[in-house]
Amino acid sequence: MSALASADIVSAAKNDIPKIIDLWTRAGLVRPWNDPETDITFARKSPNADILIWPKRETILASVMVGHDGHRGVVYYLAVDPDQQGNGFGAKMMKAAENWLISQGIWKLNLMIRSDNHAVQKFYENIGYEAEDRIVMARRLKDSGT
Ligand SMILES: CC(C)(COP(=O)(O)OP(=O)(O)OC[C@H]1O[C@@H](n2cnc3c(N)ncnc32)[C@H](O)[C@@H]1OP(=O)(O)O)[C@@H](O)C(=O)NCCC(=O)NCCS
Repeated sequence: MSALASADIVSAAKNDIPKIIDLWTRAGLVRPWNDPETDITFARKSPNADILIWPKRETILASVMVGHDGHRGVVYYLAVDPDQQGNGFGAKMMKAAENWLISQGIWKLNLMIRSDNHAVQKFYENIGYEAEDRIVMARRLKDSGT
């Protein structure tokens, strides 16, 4: 088993981008105001972020975007192929993201869940996460970007 959680989990390469977007679309994660290709390209070129994927033949079984801001870790775009959900892949991807952060010296991971995504809250609770009493505030700094 690799340091990430499974030898099958690797960093995404440029030619994986269309397959990742296909996975995110099928998993219901793409929003009109977030361009997935821009998000993937930006994360891939950052030294503080990575896109971890579980490739399977011509498709991508699961993905997670992981990164840190020099203090806390964060994950986005955790996705498992809808045909393969409930088989433990999501938990393995989160373990891989945690191990990636630990390898970067990060000791706490914060993540955000859309308020209408009740199912995923149970998933995170099952793998050891708990809700904290915080309000997330945000402001767009540029018109472009996602
Ligand atoms: C959320 C998601 C990544 C979970 O991946 P998964 O491979 O289906 O989950 P796993 O099989 O690894 O489940 C791990 C544990 O959580 C539980 N779990 C998973 N989904 C659950 C749900 N909807 N409700 C309750 N428990 C759930 C599993 O039963 C399992 O528990 P166990 O270890 O006691 O058996 C996947 O469902 C997904 O891609 N959803 C759509 C995209 C999404 O919402 N991403 C998250 C954005 S924040």
